Amino acid sequence: MILEIKEVFKSFPVKKSFFGKVEKVINALNGISLSIFPKETVGVIGESGCGKSTLGKVILDLERPDKGKVLYKGKEIQTLSKEGYKIYRKNVQAIFQNPQNSLNPRMKIWEIVTEGLKINYDLSQKELEEKAKELLSTVGLSSSYLNRYPHQLSGGQKQRIAIARAIALNPELIVADEPTSALDVSVQAQVVNLLVDIQERQGVSYFFISHSLPVVEAISDRVIVMYKGYIVEEGTSKEVFSDTKHPYTKVLISSVPVPDPIKKRKVLKLPDIDTEETIKTGCPFYPRCPKRNKDCLTYDMKPIEISLTHKVSCLLYT
Ligand SMILES: Nc1ncnc2c1ncn2[C@@H]1O[C@H](COP(=O)(O)OP(=O)(O)OP(=O)(O)O)[C@@H](O)[C@H]1O
Ligand SMILES: [Mg+2]
Repeated sequence: MILEIKEVFKSFPVKKSFFGKVEKVINALNGISLSIFPKETVGVIGESGCGKSTLGKVILDLERPDKGKVLYKGKEIQTLSKEGYKIYRKNVQAIFQNPQNSLNPRMKIWEIVTEGLKINYDLSQKELEEKAKELLSTVGLSSSYLNRYPHQLSGGQKQRIAIARAIALNPELIVADEPTSALDVSVQAQVVNLLVDIQERQGVSYFFISHSLPVVEAISDRVIVMYKGYIVEEGTSKEVFSDTKHPYTKVLISSVPVPDPIKKRKVLKLPDIDTEETIKTGCPFYPRCPKRNKDCLTYDMKPIEISLTHKVSCLLYT
């Protein structure tokens, strides 16, 4: 196992009053547990604001949990030695949605992609340039880009640079937070294919956050479905997409257009989020759930095992 998350909670204070008093707290993660194994892709889906990016940031140690643990190779990251932490940082990398913001505009491409190598290894200038050339070739760019600056590249090319930088240290895990959603539709598939190729070549694991359900279905070994800071369903890609259990997942999946009109799916409609009743305990999907009953209001969201790999947090399956 590369990484393990145990009962992680994370909340954000919002709406500070004039005197700095916190008036509201957003519970972005509500007791998330999950494991990421070598060479697998874990897809993460769920509507905007459900906590996907926050979970990605917790994995990257960009956000610290309020409660719960993040273990790298069995050791809590907060307790790692300086050397151990350096190894964790080297092995857990990130690709974000917008390459525009993640590449330093004042650095040349070769400097960007070799920054991590420079920090971690004692390499000569020539060796770094050679390595940069190799990395660009891996992401399908010619060495003519080495001495350019990020603004001279297209969005898709910039994302390839971000990928080259992420793979430079041969990481074990890459958190990819909507890596294609800022890109032109025609370029999205190329970048997804590149990520798949890299995985086949280098055996890296992905924690892949995306709004594109067809992409998640196609590339993920396992999928987690999040709703309001909870994992409501988890399973192999096949289990989640073809043997969907949770009423929320059913709604989410039904909203994806099917290319074949004969197999047309019935789109399930739900009340808008602002018509919600506020609930303090139980299943967070209760206010919108077509299958709800009063027991759901006291349900602790403990996952129910459908199979060894398929888990669902819904009382319908007890
Ligand atoms: N730094 C922060 N300060 C305050 N609130 C935050 C912060 N980061 C996230 N949140 C809130 O936490 C919740 C979860 O946010 P998060 O970015 O993880 O959602 P997401 O699932 O990635 O959404 P999206 O699909 O829109 O990217 C949201 O309500 C968001 O507004
Ligand atoms: Mg996000």
